[in-house]
Amino acid sequence: MKMVTLALLFFLVGLVTKVSALNTCPKCGSIEVPYPLSTSENCGDSRYKVYCKNGSLQFLSAKGFYYNILSINPSAYKLVISPPLIQKNTCYSSDLTLGGLLLDENLPFNISTRNTVMLLNCTDNILLSPLNCSLNSFCRQFENVELGNGCRGTLCCHYLKDSAMTSHMIRVRVGGCTAYTSVVNLKPGDPIDSWTYGIELQWLPSN
Ligand SMILES: *[C@@H]1O[C@H](CO)[C@@H](O)[C@H](O)[C@H]1NC(C)=O
Ligand SMILES: *[C@@H]1O[C@H](CO)[C@@H](O)[C@H](O)[C@H]1NC(C)=O
Ligand SMILES: *[C@@H]1O[C@H](CO)[C@@H](O)[C@H](O)[C@H]1NC(C)=O
Ligand SMILES: *[C@@H]1O[C@H](CO)[C@@H](O)[C@H](O)[C@H]1NC(C)=O
Repeated sequence: MKMVTLALLFFLVGLVTKVSALNTCPKCGSIEVPYPLSTSENCGDSRYKVYCKNGSLQFLSAKGFYYNILSINPSAYKLVISPPLIQKNTCYSSDLTLGGLLLDENLPFNISTRNTVMLLNCTDNILLSPLNCSLNSFCRQFENVELGNGCRGTLCCHYLKDSAMTSHMIRVRVGGCTAYTSVVNLKPGDPIDSWTYGIELQWLPSN
């Protein structure tokens, strides 16, 4: 009798786990993976693929570079990925050889309009662009933090990634700008130690 009850209990627990697994994916390390994000074929919506690698949740670019996912806001359809590291004592983003961040245009993700992008170690050509390359540019403050240290004294600029721009890439290249970072929702006067480094992506609601 006892065995039967126990077996039934296991069966029910198994059933409940299976049903919930069909929708929302299990946590990745300590981070929740809300629907429709999908870490495997058995959960989420497969168009919203993300990767759980070694307990850290990652986003894959169209160029095959993995960016750490720092936070997710499912009700706003937004997630924030980490800007690539800048290699020590250089001013090279770790995705430089891939041309920077490029999102697959066939996937339901784009770059939101709340990112202030800073381009670093640019060539003079950048001055023909409408970007803010003045001595007051936010990028001049970034040079003073450890992450941006290798870029100190290089020509740099910032811009708000607004709706007038392509929302699928942040481009860097040798002979252009070789590094970048991004801060979410940056307001003039925000002290640098309150900056939220990240690239905010937005997804199209599923169904
Ligand atoms: C996995 O993560 C642990 C702790 O965060 C780290 O020490 C280890 O090197 C990582 N392994 C791989 C293969 O990335
Ligand atoms: C800046 O970029 C140029 C190529 O455009 C490169 O030769 C130079 O080493 C870079 N500077 C730093 C500090 O990485
Ligand atoms: C450049 O950005 C800084 C910081 O937001 C701002 O104070 C300055 O007015 C901007 N300069 C130009 C030419 O837009
Ligand atoms: C980015 O995606 C959002 C939602 O998916 C959409 O509302 C917005 O128009 C898109 N922006 C651009 C510039 O494609």
